[in-house]
Amino acid sequence: MSEATDSGADAEGTVGGANRETHTWQDSLLAVRNLDAGYGDLQILTDVDLDVRDGEYVTIVGPNGAGKSTVMKSVFGLTNRMAGTIEFNGEDITDTQPEEIIYEGLGYVPQNDNIFTTLSVQENLEMGAYILDEVPQDAIEDVYNRFPILRERQGQKAGTMSGGQRQMLAMGRALMLDPDLLLLDEPSAGLAPDLVDDMFDRIDGINDDGTAVLMVEQNAKEALGRCDRGYVLVDGKNRYEDTGDALLADDQVRQDFLGG
Ligand SMILES: Nc1ncnc2c1ncn2[C@@H]1O[C@H](COP(=O)(O)OP(=O)(O)O)[C@@H](O)[C@H]1O
Ligand SMILES: [Mg+2]
Repeated sequence: MSEATDSGADAEGTVGGANRETHTWQDSLLAVRNLDAGYGDLQILTDVDLDVRDGEYVTIVGPNGAGKSTVMKSVFGLTNRMAGTIEFNGEDITDTQPEEIIYEGLGYVPQNDNIFTTLSVQENLEMGAYILDEVPQDAIEDVYNRFPILRERQGQKAGTMSGGQRQMLAMGRALMLDPDLLLLDEPSAGLAPDLVDDMFDRIDGINDDGTAVLMVEQNAKEALGRCDRGYVLVDGKNRYEDTGDALLADDQVRQDFLGG
């Protein structure tokens, strides 16, 4: 177990007074280092470190308002990044705009408003490839093969579909450019309980096919049980990081963040 607290830990009321001990790798696909970020002048994240290696499946969990979505938005260039660096595929993307970041091989499915409700399913997928001169038909075919229900509904307005189908569409749209890393912000939110496992199975499938995944989830036990590594984020700071299994097995983590 690695507790990642900063030297002001006691003043912050965080666990113990341990020195910061986050792991970093030379070969990371995504490397977030000492990131401070927020909205306008409002700082939400402090000194956040995070790594995703090639093909890895990494989960961020933590209380509501901890800054999990802000981490995702920061990686995608949607926040005010005040300090620190973000490297992706060996390139510094700290100050890169979202329209350019998608060219680098990063796909992002936001927590909310992640589809165009007035467009059809097919049109939504085409929008996923809007940066290309021509819509890649093979990419649409791949998405339809992965999510057959989307093929059935291809002419239907996206806004008329169920929550699970919308979420599949949002993921399909983000897969249109065959990203190296897919950012998923609460993919199981709002799904009927019997659809949650199915959604996680589909994410496993995407990762098994070689796409690295960085996911934020409220459904923390399930997510940690499936991912390679996890981070617990609290109050905009790293609190714990370890393999998913080790976090699940840790009494303190269970008690404080996983409902016992
Ligand atoms: N666009 C925004 N402008 C100002 N503050 C925001 C904005 N989005 C989120 N916040 C604030 O940032 C903090 C972290 O939010 P968020 O990253 O959404 O947390 P989480 O995803 O962990 O629930 C919260 O206090 C939230 O109110
Ligand atoms: Mg969130």
